[in-house]
Amino acid sequence: QLKKKEARILCVGLDNSGKSTIINQLKPVRSRNVEVVPTVGFCVEQFNAGALSFTVFDMSGQGRYRSLWEHYYNSCDAIIFVVDSTDRIRMTVAKEELNQLLRHKQIVQKRSLPFLFFSNKSDLRQSVSAVKCAQLMGLDAGRPWHICPCNALTGEGLNEGLGWLSDQII
Ligand code: GTP
Repeated sequence: QLKKKEARILCVGLDNSGKSTIINQLKPVRSRNVEVVPTVGFCVEQFNAGALSFTVFDMSGQGRYRSLWEHYYNSCDAIIFVVDSTDRIRMTVAKEELNQLLRHKQIVQKRSLPFLFFSNKSDLRQSVSAVKCAQLMGLDAGRPWHICPCNALTGEGLNEGLGWLSDQII
């Protein structure tokens, strides 16, 4: 099987989970190609890093824009879901958003779509382990997924996660 030349990665998560910080680590420093597309109050950020093309959006408080996300679900090759590992209370909200995503017909149809979870802010004392985070998020064997602890401030853990992801994308 040939690797795809270009892969589309959708990066989602609640506000304050660390998406922007992670993305800033992934963006090529020189050839920054950032495009923020505002669609009636709903912001989508897009950029390329090597053969990966990233689309990022915030899931919080924007349930009413769910119908607009459909377009991105349809064309993506992988999903990165960022979780704030220090915020157990909002993890229940993140879990609900994840479940909504998993129930979406476009996602249901893509049975082998890989999900990478970043259990972010691993540097903080109140951070739960990746195993605990997977438990709290209710991750099960239904799909290819991987969870990686990371510290978006230093970039620690990001490469391990992306390495897993690129191996999944064929
Ligand atoms: P929105 O912009 O609201 O959508 O949030 P976001 O998901 O893009 O989160 P953002 O990257 O803005 O990070 C939120 C806050 O958490 C910021 O103050 C970051 O500096 C901080 N932060 C992000 N990642 C880490 C991390 O790994 N460790 C620590 N200690 N702080 C982090």
